[in-house]
Order: sequence, then structure tokens, then C-alpha cells
Amino acid sequence: MSIQTITSVREMQKLSDNLRKQGKRIGFVPTMGYLHEGHASLVHLSQQRADITVISVFVNPTQFAPNEDFTKYPRDFERDCSIAEKAGAQIMFAPTTDEMYPHGYSSMIKAGNEAAKFEGVFRPTHFSGVATVVAKLFNAVKPHFAVFGQKDYQQTLVVQRMVTDLNMDIDLIIAPTDREVSGLARSSRNVYLSSSEKEKAAILYRALMNAADKRSNGERNREKLNEVLTQTLYTVPEINVEYAQAAHADTLDEPDYFEEQDNIVFLLAVRLGNTRLIDNYVWKT
Ligand code: PAF
Repeated sequence: MSIQTITSVREMQKLSDNLRKQGKRIGFVPTMGYLHEGHASLVHLSQQRADITVISVFVNPTQFAPNEDFTKYPRDFERDCSIAEKAGAQIMFAPTTDEMYPHGYSSMIKAGNEAAKFEGVFRPTHFSGVATVVAKLFNAVKPHFAVFGQKDYQQTLVVQRMVTDLNMDIDLIIAPTDREVSGLARSSRNVYLSSSEKEKAAILYRALMNAADKRSNGERNREKLNEVLTQTLYTVPEINVEYAQAAHADTLDEPDYFEEQDNIVFLLAVRLGNTRLIDNYVWKT
């Protein structure tokens, strides 16, 4: 059966209501399209737990600042449908911008405390846009659970906070980051990288691994762990570091010394040429 495309919020809601009446479990994979193997792995994960997987493709204008890449964000809807279908999704929800933000639209969700640091410093309006669109997508798709990639680590904390704080009856599943052989995290934005930049971008994963090794060898001083991240990144002169920080994996707190039992997330955002890349790694006790 080929994938069913739905563009209207009302139609999506009706379909989900019918599926729920039939006792079907709905899994949801929200995306901004230009799908790759990483997205396919999110669909596979959903398929293992759902009767029906809905994937959405919507490049959300409210999560881009005016100076960011909203208009040039890569788009290829035909290809997205084919990848989503091959991965096993049954429904493609692809609303237009007018459908999601009709004339007069003016409500936004204020993202919780998790939004303030790291990405929040460099993209102050980003997480409010993410929280808003995710809430709207949840209200349209009415899923039992939704799958998010760990690649956008801070986003997963922000969305979890919103789901908890606003009593949304939706489980979140966080899927491991899909990587190329070089360690580079798969991302729709990798299409902006030249082949030589792609090789250089592998340094992000090396920085994460070096910091994780340092912690495994007993280092709990946060500044020292941060140093490993930045020093590794600085071996590639074309990389401009926005942040490279160790933080508590659950709270994003930054103590001088981590406790022995703390899970730690190493978070990176860099610019390479015109491309902004983020990545992270969670070191667990
Ligand atoms: O992670 C993304 O692709 C987006 O931030 C999301 C969750 C689809 C919201 O637009």
C-alpha cells in the first residue's frame, strides 16, 4: 500500500480519531523533511511499537530566526515520500505554512528552562518555535508516542519538559544518533557541506569521543572536559566553535565537578564554512 498524504489538520485529526477508535496505536515521527537514513531509523523504531506510523514533513518558519536558513533549507517532497514509504510509514502529514499558521495566528509556547542555555544563547527564539510547532503537530496527529532523534539533544529535553508541564498524554522515545562511517552525525544540513568540509566535520565526533575517554579515565572537572572538546576541535582551523561544553545530562547543570554517578552530556555547536553543525554524546556511568 502506498503512503497516504494528508495536508489538512482537520483531516489528519479525523483519521487519527478513526484509527484510535479501531484500537490502533499511532506512532509519530516529526521532521522538517529532506529525509535521510537517520529519519528512516526513527520510522523503524516507531514501526516496532505502533500499528500505524505517521511522519510529518513541515519546515517550520517559527523556529528559524530571520538571519537563518529557512528559505534555503533543503526540500524534496517526492523523495521524502519515497524514503518514508520504504522505511515503513503509512501516513505522511505535510501541511502548508498557511494551514499551520493561518492569517491571525498569534499564540506561541514559551519553552521551559532547558531552552535557555547552549542553543538558546545562539538561537534565542528557536525553542519557542519548536515547542509551538511540536504541540500543534501533536494536536493534529494525536499520536500515542512520538520519536525524536538524540542528535537534537536539547530539543528532546525541551519537548519532554513541555509534555510533562502541559500534561500531554504522549510518550517520547529518543532514538540514538545515526552516523556516517566517519562518525559525522546524519543531518539534512550535511548537504551544505563540500566533500572536504565533510571530512573535516568528522572532528566533532572525535572531540566527543576524546571527552568521553577523558571522563572514563576518571576526569570529573568540567573545565578540563570542556578543554578536551575545544582543543580537539581547534585541530581543524576552519572550525569556529560556538559552544563545546559538558553538562549534566538530565538538567544541563554545569557544576565545577561532576559527581561520580552523574550522567554527562557533551554538547557541540560549530560553524564550518557557511554551515552550522551540532552534535552530542551522552556519557553514562
Ligand atoms: O527536529 C526537527 O526536525 C524539528 O525541530 C521538528 C521537531 C520537526 C520541529 O519542527
